Amino acid sequence: MDRTAQLIARPTVDTVVYDPTAPPGPPHLRALRSRAVDVLEGNWTGTSTVPSRRLYPHQWSWDSAFIAIGLRHVSPLRAQTELETLLAAQWGDGRIPHIVFNPSVPLDAYFPSPDFWRSSTAGRAAGAPRTVQTSGIVQPPVHALAAWLVHRADPGLSRARGFLARVYPRLAAWHRYLLHRRDLGGGGLVSVVHPWEQGMDNAPSWDAPLGRVTPAPARSFRRADLDHGAAEDRPTDLDYGRYVRLATEYRDGGYADGGGEFAVEDPAFNALLIASEHALARIARELGATATARHARAERLTAALVERLWDPTEGMFFCRDVRSGGLVPERGVSGLVPLLLPGLPREVVGGLVATLRGPHFGLGGATRLVPSYDLLGEAFDPHRYWRGPAWFNTSWLVEQGLRLHGEQSAADELRRAALDIADSSDFAEYVDPYTGEACGATGFSWTAALTLDLIHREEMSGTGTKGGDLG
Ligand code: SER
Repeated sequence: MDRTAQLIARPTVDTVVYDPTAPPGPPHLRALRSRAVDVLEGNWTGTSTVPSRRLYPHQWSWDSAFIAIGLRHVSPLRAQTELETLLAAQWGDGRIPHIVFNPSVPLDAYFPSPDFWRSSTAGRAAGAPRTVQTSGIVQPPVHALAAWLVHRADPGLSRARGFLARVYPRLAAWHRYLLHRRDLGGGGLVSVVHPWEQGMDNAPSWDAPLGRVTPAPARSFRRADLDHGAAEDRPTDLDYGRYVRLATEYRDGGYADGGGEFAVEDPAFNALLIASEHALARIARELGATATARHARAERLTAALVERLWDPTEGMFFCRDVRSGGLVPERGVSGLVPLLLPGLPREVVGGLVATLRGPHFGLGGATRLVPSYDLLGEAFDPHRYWRGPAWFNTSWLVEQGLRLHGEQSAADELRRAALDIADSSDFAEYVDPYTGEACGATGFSWTAALTLDLIHREEMSGTGTKGGDLG
């Protein structure tokens, strides 16, 4: 019996809601779906999903949102639980921590571990929970978007469990935290205070703002990631020294916002907040509340994003270094992610699509998935984490954006590429953008989850159902 069938058949509470009438699809997609389900089953802990058993053995915030988006197709209950577990670790000030630690995992399995973050003591003034240990920084706000998509996969179950009614106040508090405590540049956009917050840890866009940070001495900490991943696929020791210094200072200041030496407005982080604000408006409407103010806020944020981060000459968005005041002239996939937004001016959409296809990203020519960084950039490295490799979550976001803006054949091609490469790379964490060679971990949860979502869309495309979810 394949894994999909097992998930359907297993007599646990999260299996009864799966829709067995969903179209089975062609054999190669059925086999791929079964293997993707296998990955998620293997990475499920009982209340959430680890991104990777060895490299990332706890719960990660934006990973869980992407994982829930895929899980909803095989177990809407498990998808709801994934988000509920994460939200249960929310801090009193509204922040959703980027890691929720599993107390049964040994401290030396991952660095920085709970004894580094000391959330329940150092984070007390910010309202960190007492019963669960977490990190003190955040990750991109994909959660309201995920909650809405999870609800739509099985509205009956969602209503019966009061899913949206329970998550809505927490999601609203999360957005309030970002909009009120993190507008460090004063222009309406949210700043990240650590590269781990934006999620693309060693992207070249951070090199200049991070270069001002004195690295913590190498002997003052021990990296665990190199026990499980090839050093040439991972950030350097110098990067880690700076990550550790920034996180230590944030912690020692009680996780209060505003004083740190690193503050950057990032296009992808803000675009995901805007997409989630639109989703929160839909959730509000479903709950019988008014949605107008939230849609209006999302539109104001979109205008601020274009005003502060769009470069019409380059045809893409750039990061703004809030401490130095200027745009960072590095082309990263983050600057293409805003394509997922519905309210973009036409010339912005045209510019983004041209840049995607042009020599810097090569989509549909030199590359089949979207590279994380400029193919022609000086810092380009096809294997090193966010300095060139293609990732599946960003390609999924760009696929949604292409579809939303009427670029159906480019979106179809990108979807097929993601399915092929997820298959051939064994659900790699990221891949060489030219060859598709697997980098980092394999059996990576969001790759498997988004594969399930793309298979679902591929199957639905023959039925005349609208292919995108973000419109
Ligand atoms: N991405 C980071 C890591 O590599 C943490 O969020 O551990």
